[in-house]
Amino acid sequence: MFQNHQFIQGIHFCHLYANMEIFMTLFGLLPLKFVLVSVFLSVLHAILCKVCRAPKLTGHGPPTYPIIGCLISFYKNRTRLLDWYTELLAESATNTIVVNRLGARRTIVTANSENVKYMLKTNFNNFPKGKPFTEILGDFLGYGIFNVDGELWRMQRKLASHAFSTNSLRELVISKLEEEVENQLLPLLESLAEASEVVDLQDLLRRLAFNLICKVSLGVDSCYLDRSLPVSPLGKAFDMASEICAKRGAAPLFLVWKVKKWLGVGSEKRLKDAVEEVRAYVEEIVRDKKKKIDEVGENCGEDLLSRLILAGHDVVVIRDMAISFIMAGRDTTSAAMTWLFWLLSCHPVIEQELLKEIKNMEESLLDYESLKGLKLLKASLCESMRLYPPVAWDSKHAMVDDMLPDGTLVQAGDRVTYFPYGMGRMEALWGRDWYEFRPSRWFIEPSYQGGSLKKVCPYKFPVFQAGPRVCLGKEMAFIQMKYVVASVLRQFKIKPVGPEKPVFVPLLTAHMAGGLKVVIQKRDHSR
Ligand code: HEM
Ligand SMILES: *[C@@H]1O[C@H](CO)[C@@H](O)[C@H](O)[C@H]1NC(C)=O
Repeated sequence: MFQNHQFIQGIHFCHLYANMEIFMTLFGLLPLKFVLVSVFLSVLHAILCKVCRAPKLTGHGPPTYPIIGCLISFYKNRTRLLDWYTELLAESATNTIVVNRLGARRTIVTANSENVKYMLKTNFNNFPKGKPFTEILGDFLGYGIFNVDGELWRMQRKLASHAFSTNSLRELVISKLEEEVENQLLPLLESLAEASEVVDLQDLLRRLAFNLICKVSLGVDSCYLDRSLPVSPLGKAFDMASEICAKRGAAPLFLVWKVKKWLGVGSEKRLKDAVEEVRAYVEEIVRDKKKKIDEVGENCGEDLLSRLILAGHDVVVIRDMAISFIMAGRDTTSAAMTWLFWLLSCHPVIEQELLKEIKNMEESLLDYESLKGLKLLKASLCESMRLYPPVAWDSKHAMVDDMLPDGTLVQAGDRVTYFPYGMGRMEALWGRDWYEFRPSRWFIEPSYQGGSLKKVCPYKFPVFQAGPRVCLGKEMAFIQMKYVVASVLRQFKIKPVGPEKPVFVPLLTAHMAGGLKVVIQKRDHSR
């Protein structure tokens, strides 16, 4: 009941609870006092209602009182924050709310695409990630692209966008995918189908994504999908480090982790060890590769690392960039695919249409061109991410006072959060049937067989962020997701076991709580 860890917040990504109040967590540590807390809150609520007559709604936002802000409703809604914010946003005339509560920074949450465009593009320079964010991940990500602002970011972005946008990278991604999928994933699914064994599909897809990102960014093959083998040491250290950073974000008091860090004890000690392990591992790869490149000359590999080395940066800079790539590219695609497989199991008609599209492909081989033709699959992936965005929310911190296009005042230091999860659920953006999984909404024509996809405004659908800092791996992500989903669907039927509706948790990146347990069946090829 008091599992505060449902709260553990998106590393990647924003920290709405970054300074979770002392108050809540103090009680959270004493689960038996639940009743007392409720009584206390009810009394407090009654008194405050008397004193202030009615909750002051300050235009848009939760009921807010002097001094404590919206602490009471925040506390009451703590296990359903995503949906609570979504409801509040839908009620607000401009789909924007201001959340003020004791112990936390003033936070503006918006699902208004004009506001989103303003913060992510028009006035980009006033909305960096900011220290409250970068501090939490800094010990792990160092000065890697993912965790810096300003000049440091601009310089790496230029270098990295160049590396990400080449044809040869695309080819590398597809050839590594082929290895992973044909040699590992499909044989594994085959044996699981034969044994009618239950497996966590989300876990399999996570491992696959991790392997792929290691191959593409580092050029190493040391990670395995085989479940009988332990997760690679790199994978393990990575999991450990990101989990602890996430917990930092959810800590009751910044001071607690800072003191632990200063003393070098507990989770901070484990973080330090894990980070050292990741860094040592990556550094060694960088050094080896550098040596090889020096010996053999250029053209030593197509992976991102070789490109960064050839651009002449020093080992530490390259190491941190590579760690940022792995961090950014490892859990997102698996979450999106997992939700899609689940949604398809609830929508057999769409699954059949998708299967038709996949089987109609000219070649049986999946190359870049044939993947491009899979429009219904792309629409289905977008639709899955609209409802279950891998990055549910993401925050920036205002440098100076500002005003959003809808008139919301921003004060220097405010947290400003754009909220893809809420945006995917706004009637104003997607119409009255927003709750339906309906890939056809991504097509220009109502009947989508052979039709073309709409160009949807990236500020209306910012699941990859948008503007100058848009996700660098967007294209790679779509290639990967299309390749994997098409290969799996073509041969197998995925049947979730267990009746319950899965729960969406915005941990690190958002994912399905407890994974997706499925049985796998081989499709009948005679049909
Ligand atoms: C469905 C899959 C994915 C989604 C939804 C996604 C989403 C995002 C989002 C929302 C951001 C902005 C985060 C922030 O600024 O706090 C981001 C940044 C980034 N993503 Fe992705 N991502 C995905 C896959 C990937 C992949 C496969 C890679 C490959 C390496 C990647 C690389 C990056 C990088 C390097 C950044 C940082 C860009 C910068 O700060 O300039 N992403 N992504
Ligand atoms: C959530 O907050 C709203 C105010 O925005 C409040 O009316 C409601 O009772 C809270 N929900 C729960 C489940 O307590």
